[in-house]
Amino acid sequence: MNAQSHPLAIVTGASSGIGFELARYCAINGFELLIAADEPEIHPAAEVLRSPTNTVDAVETDLSTLEGVDELLAALDGRPVAALLANAGRGLGGAFLEQDFAAVRHVIDTNVTGTLYLVQKVARQMRSRGEGRILITGSIAGFMPGTYQAVYNGTKALLDSFSFALRAELKGSGITVTCLMPGATETEFFDRAGMQDTKLGQSKKDAPAAVARKGFDAMQKGEGDVVTGWQNRLAAAISSVMPSGALAAVHGRSTRPRSAAD
Ligand SMILES: NC(=O)c1ccc[n+]([C@@H]2O[C@H](COP(=O)([O-])OP(=O)(O)OC[C@H]3O[C@@H](n4cnc5c(N)ncnc54)[C@H](OP(=O)(O)O)[C@@H]3O)[C@@H](O)[C@H]2O)c1
Repeated sequence: MNAQSHPLAIVTGASSGIGFELARYCAINGFELLIAADEPEIHPAAEVLRSPTNTVDAVETDLSTLEGVDELLAALDGRPVAALLANAGRGLGGAFLEQDFAAVRHVIDTNVTGTLYLVQKVARQMRSRGEGRILITGSIAGFMPGTYQAVYNGTKALLDSFSFALRAELKGSGITVTCLMPGATETEFFDRAGMQDTKLGQSKKDAPAAVARKGFDAMQKGEGDVVTGWQNRLAAAISSVMPSGALAAVHGRSTRPRSAAD
């Protein structure tokens, strides 16, 4: 089997949640996979995704560092990338002044620096062939100031914006850029971000498989963005007309730690 009959997709953050489901849709749709995450759980995820008809390679690497991204790129071994699904990301809840700065930096380095570095490297490779699909997992969080989640929302605002700008720059190149903008989704995200003690953390959330399906389909169609679910589309529409100060206040009501003193 050659690369033409089985195009290759890179999916980052594929050990759990939305990324695992994105990888699953890639596999179902005939992609070979190169998947990555920071923890050993990426290997059992690869086992689940593997089938007699597709190849799945897994790389355990920290994508918050340029070296970690280079390690993922080295695993390509010269193969052309048909689709890049840049999904790995971290959240971080709580008041900014109480946050550990190393954790703040890890969020920025993972969500922004590592993602942009990977996108640039892979998009250059795609440009040389004149084809490729890129999916970036942004968020509706990027539409509003994230009180008690301030740095995370800022990183997603950058990704949402960047995705559209890169899409415009690559118009006519054969490469499409799609931004997947989920709302609250039932994954390990809130636990890892220390946000279980919030109204949002305890709210009913979207299923990661449904979110990933919308994202995968939008990427395949070469659409610019997809906001999953009508409630999230409504929130996105409200964000575009509501003043930032009011948005920040509303956001804080759902993300303020319940244990925080009044
Ligand atoms: N859940 C939501 O409500 C929601 C809403 C909007 C957008 N999103 C975005 O969706 C994406 C996926 O999140 P999720 O909800 O599916 O959460 P998740 O289950 O926690 O998945 C996050 C994935 O990213 C990987 N990752 C995180 N930091 C990494 C690093 N430095 N290097 C390599 N891999 C790293 C994780 O791997 P390790 O465990 O190995 O670190 C994991 O595979 C994120 O970009 C997130 O911002 C989530």
